[in-house]
Amino acid sequence: MKLLAALALILTGTMACADGGKLSVPGNPKWKEECGSCHIAYPPQLLSRENWQRMMGRLDKHFGANAMLDAGDNKQILAYLQRYAGSGDRHGAASLRISDTPWFTREHSEVSSNTWPNPAVKSRANCTACHVNAERGDWSERGIRMPGGQGRDDGEDDDDD
Ligand code: HEC
Ligand code: HEC
Repeated sequence: MKLLAALALILTGTMACADGGKLSVPGNPKWKEECGSCHIAYPPQLLSRENWQRMMGRLDKHFGANAMLDAGDNKQILAYLQRYAGSGDRHGAASLRISDTPWFTREHSEVSSNTWPNPAVKSRANCTACHVNAERGDWSERGIRMPGGQGRDDGEDDDDD
């Protein structure tokens, strides 16, 4: 009986990790350094190959910022992003924003519309406002803290897994 309970615990633990671990890829130091200086280094899986290509092709005009790299670094980072890029239309957006992809919209459908303008969030691109462990590559539901407890029924207490 005790053993079974322990086994069940281990199993749920592993499943939770596998779920949140969907975004884990072998890191790339160059990418982490260059693409993680102004904002979190967004995981390659969340945009399509084509979107990454277009973004890396005009880093001088990067969402109002200049994120220019030298040619060698650009090439190396693009190769990394494309190798692990997401596939299918759900990971593409004309704006080249992860936060505009169909995948993002669906995954965040339960975030209520009054949460996004919260001063602690400001931009949907500000992933770490809610995904507090994302810097470490952990995007699991366990690591989500809604600012001001908004938008999700009571965050921490609802033990729905
Ligand atoms: C000089 C600062 C700077 C650097 C360096 C930088 N970015 Fe950005 N990036 C920005 C800004 C500013 C935004 C817009 C953020 C917002 O709307 O809140 C942005 C937005 C993005 C977005 C869209 C986020 C979304 O879903 O709305 C992606 C994807 C992105 N950057 C990828 C990269 C990649 C890849 C690199 C490395 C090649 C990089 N960035 C380097 C400043 C930078
Ligand atoms: C306002 C808070 C908030 C912001 C900002 C936010 N998210 Fe989320 N995210 C959530 C919530 C809530 C869920 C849904 C969890 C659930 O299904 O119970 C979620 C789900 C996810 C998941 C799926 C997690 C899983 O294991 O099921 C991923 C991956 C994710 N978000 C990535 C991102 C990325 C990348 C960004 C930034 C471009 C971002 N999120 C911005 C709140 C946020």
